Amino acid sequence: MSPLNAAIIGTGHALPENVLTNDQLEKMVDTSDEWIVTRTGIRQRHIAGPGEYTSLFATAAARRALDMAGVDPAELDMIICATVCPDMMLPATACFIQSALGAKRAAAYDMAAACSGFLYGLTVAEGVIKSGRCRTVLLVGAELLSRYVDYTDRSTCVIFGDGAGAAVIRATEEPKGILAARIRSDGDLADYLYTPGGGTRYPASEETVKKRLHYIKMRGNELFKVAVRNLTQISREALDDLKMAPNDVDLFLPHQANQRITEAVTARLGIDPARVYSNIDRIGNTSSASIPIGLDECVRAGRVRPGDTIMMASFGAGVTYGAVIMRW
Ligand code: ACO
Repeated sequence: MSPLNAAIIGTGHALPENVLTNDQLEKMVDTSDEWIVTRTGIRQRHIAGPGEYTSLFATAAARRALDMAGVDPAELDMIICATVCPDMMLPATACFIQSALGAKRAAAYDMAAACSGFLYGLTVAEGVIKSGRCRTVLLVGAELLSRYVDYTDRSTCVIFGDGAGAAVIRATEEPKGILAARIRSDGDLADYLYTPGGGTRYPASEETVKKRLHYIKMRGNELFKVAVRNLTQISREALDDLKMAPNDVDLFLPHQANQRITEAVTARLGIDPARVYSNIDRIGNTSSASIPIGLDECVRAGRVRPGDTIMMASFGAGVTYGAVIMRW
């Protein structure tokens, strides 16, 4: 490792109180608890209430991460908010987080890499820390996908949930932190998962609303196959970078998209399932928030101990994908 490493020193997460169960969804669309559980592993998801917005949960998660790290917001050099559900089109949600925290010295901006946002953010944080430009970075993955989900479309509304997860990343000379980071995209597959309306291509109008263009459109079955292939490939590349075998990893924390995707990737990599973390049954798919929520749960439950090796892997709209291996 280089003399200056980038290590996570605090984690936190926040979820809306309101829970949407499969039984409730059965009353909204033509689906069943049995279908959702067997096809996705999801039993419930948290959904923000009226009047709640992304930066509220992002800030709550950030405060918990800063508390664990013992870092004052004034020490932050950079705030990255990984989100595709910003409070507003302008300014960046990260600026609202900055203001709520009083992190006066920080540069603040959003990163739109969908479900891979947290791993893209970690890779950037590692770069600015190793270059010496920043000492302390706050990275938040925060999404309120319920605001873009069509609750008449059974193929998407059963999957997504709301939430936020955060990490404080700091320069250290200790031999720990991010060991390998691989991120990649394939824009040719942009129409596998997209929300067409509201941007410059289809600006919001009566017509875009009528055509339901502001809702998420997904080619789930095709995406499933790409996800399994890309997650497996990028994880192998990150392991190869370190000449590590899959079971050298103490904890494998994949993006929580679908339990069957997690199981297929785990089997292809040959990782012992006991090393794999899953919370999809309780949380659903929270996009960029999914990995930091899982990481915080593992840290607080003592599932991650100093010296442990953690591999995180994600894929999402774009398509984007990535894998990061770190030593705790
Ligand atoms: N309840 C009941 N039946 C359903 C439901 C539902 N909720 N949703 C779809 N079906 C039906 C379909 O209509 C189809 O019926 P048909 O055979 O009569 O046409 C049948 O189930 C099979 O549909 P598939 O789409 O082939 O089902 P599949 O097994 O692929 O599961 C799912 C669908 C869960 C969406 C899966 O493809 C998946 O998880 N894909 C990955 C999606 C994903 O992870 N997206 C997020 C990416 S992360 C990000 O960036 C936000």
